[in-house]
Amino acid sequence: MVRKKDPNILVFDSGFGGLSVLSALTATLPFANYMFLADDARFPYGDLSDEELIEGLIALIENTCMDTMPDLLVIACNTASTVALTALRARFFFPIVGIVPAIKPAAHATRTGHFAVIATPGTIRRSYTRDLIRDYASGCVVDLVACNQLARLAEAYLLEGDRNEAAVYEEVRAVFEGEYGDDVDVIVLGCTHYPLLMPVLHAVAPRPVLWIDPAHAVARRVMHLLEQEWQDCLAGATPAQVEARGRIRFMATGGEALRLSRAWQALIEEKADPASSCGPNS
Ligand code: DGL
Repeated sequence: MVRKKDPNILVFDSGFGGLSVLSALTATLPFANYMFLADDARFPYGDLSDEELIEGLIALIENTCMDTMPDLLVIACNTASTVALTALRARFFFPIVGIVPAIKPAAHATRTGHFAVIATPGTIRRSYTRDLIRDYASGCVVDLVACNQLARLAEAYLLEGDRNEAAVYEEVRAVFEGEYGDDVDVIVLGCTHYPLLMPVLHAVAPRPVLWIDPAHAVARRVMHLLEQEWQDCLAGATPAQVEARGRIRFMATGGEALRLSRAWQALIEEKADPASSCGPNS
C-alpha cells in the first residue's frame, strides 16, 4: 500500500503554554509533523480585546499558511478558542480544533457538586465559558476565578525554574478561601499554561483536589478527525516513531523560537524521568 504523507499539524498558542498540548499530541499522534507557533509578541492574550485578538490571529494564521499549509490547526489556547473559533473556521478550510475549559468532565467528576475554573480574565468573562456551564453544569456550583499573572508565572517556572510559590498561591487563593471553598473538589485548568506549573500548584494547594487538563481529550479529537484519511499511518506508528517526537518546527512572532525549542526539550526530558513526575495530589 502506498503510504500517504504524514499529516502536518499547526499548533498555536499565545506563548509557551501550548507546549502542554503539544506534549499530549505527540504522545497520541507521534507520526505527525508539527509546527508550533507562539504569538509571544502579543502575549498575554488575556489582556487583549476580542477584536484585537481575532483580527491579529486570523492575519497571523494566514501568513503562516503562506509558508506551510497545515492539514489541521490546533488552537492550543483557551483565551483564543473561546472567542475566535467561529471566525477561524469561517476563514480557513482545514479542520480546526480548539481547547476550552473542561466544564463537562468537571461536572461529571465532582462529588460535592462544587468545582472551580481557573483561567485568564479573557476566558473567564467569555459567554462561551458561561454557556458551557449553563449547558453542562447547571446542577453544580461553579467558581470562576480569573488569574491575572498565572500564565506569566508558568513561563517563569518553565524557563527559569522560578517556583514563586507565594505568588502562585495568591493567584489561586480565591478557590480555596472562598465562602464554601472547602467544598471545591475539582479544579479545571482553563489555560494551557497552567499544566506546566503543576508541581507548584500541587505544592501550594492546601488540600488534595482533582486538577483537570483537557489536553489529552484534544489530542483524541485530533486523532478522530485525522483517522479517516490517515488510517494506515495511525496503524503503522512504530515504537521508534513514538520515541522520536522530533519533527517539530518552532516559530514565534517575538523571537522566542529558540527558547521554545529548548523548553520543549527540557519538558520531554523531564517527562521521560519518572522521578520528576507530579506530587501526591495528582
Ligand atoms: N495559554 C493561553 C490559554 O490557554 C493563554 C495565556 C495568555 O496569553 O494569557 O488561555
